[in-house]
Amino acid sequence: MTATRIAIGGERPYETVVGTGVLPAVPDFLGRQAGNVVVIHAESLATVAAVVGRSIAEAGHAVRLEPVPDGEAAKEIGVAAGLWSRLAAAGVGRDDAIVGVGGGAVTDLSGFVAATWLRGVRVVLVPTTLLAMVDAAIGGKTAINTADGKNLVGAFYPPAGVVADTGVLASLPLAEYVSGLAEVIKAGFVADPVILDLVESDPGAAARPGGPHERELIERSIAMKAAVVSADLREAGLRETLNYGHTLGHAIERAENFSMRHGEAVAIGMCYAAALGRLAGRLDPATAARHRAVLTAVGLPVRYQPGAWPELRAAMAVDKKARSAKLRFVVLDGLAKPGILADPAEHLLERAYAEVS
Ligand code: GLY
Repeated sequence: MTATRIAIGGERPYETVVGTGVLPAVPDFLGRQAGNVVVIHAESLATVAAVVGRSIAEAGHAVRLEPVPDGEAAKEIGVAAGLWSRLAAAGVGRDDAIVGVGGGAVTDLSGFVAATWLRGVRVVLVPTTLLAMVDAAIGGKTAINTADGKNLVGAFYPPAGVVADTGVLASLPLAEYVSGLAEVIKAGFVADPVILDLVESDPGAAARPGGPHERELIERSIAMKAAVVSADLREAGLRETLNYGHTLGHAIERAENFSMRHGEAVAIGMCYAAALGRLAGRLDPATAARHRAVLTAVGLPVRYQPGAWPELRAAMAVDKKARSAKLRFVVLDGLAKPGILADPAEHLLERAYAEVS
């Protein structure tokens, strides 16, 4: 099957290439001027990074591979500072480029280092998890964590291109793949119900890499996100709808000390948002029930501990302070009709939690 190219618009338009065996497309996005190309990659992805590195070298650029820790441990100021030092030592200049190979943590870190080095050098992202392909690598959000929280330091910095090779998903741990499916299903509920139809047609197959609809699910999810971030890169409005299920999801991640997979927490958070929407008279019961059915069918959790409400409520309040004066939830006014529920009554918040606990 040939590669698909999905355009992402806005102030700095770029493309995402999707397909099997598309890693050699990386040099297409590096720019002719790039003498040095630094490939930042998750330690465990040395093989994928080597394939990417070879294609860059064959295109005539000097390549330097920079392994970083897997997962969130990559998003540390110490890791970024180490990379800045090595970029300096390698003489990486304004026309040079960075490539980020890994899951969402590594693409966030690579984007951040690229955004900050010399006030911005070109970055190409090579997401290797389902979550990173459909979400983290698309839309120009870059970040590292601080002792005070996740993603507190970063920049909106769109990449020059994204290369999503679906062939690499086969080696992903199954639970990691299923976690990514939560963001795919989110795209179905907020914007593209065909996604839900495809998952529901064979949930077991959707929950494994290489399923019959994998490519279409990924492309539809990316296209959905592309449309949103093309219109609203800086989250002034529409982009907020991508946070569907994330308000409670983030609180659960925090309660779990970030040991729960993001998609698992978001799955519970989507069921919560659906219950909240229904209780507020915004969402019909059948669409609310569809959340639990489809998420359960692919093996995602839909409930959390009954006694956790006070802690989760407090965590959402902290999240609130960072955003605005009041709690804001993305809810649905129907399938693919996202809206905002601001400052809901306390009893609604609690009743909705009772439905997911
Ligand atoms: N992951 C949500 C966003 O990119 O806005």
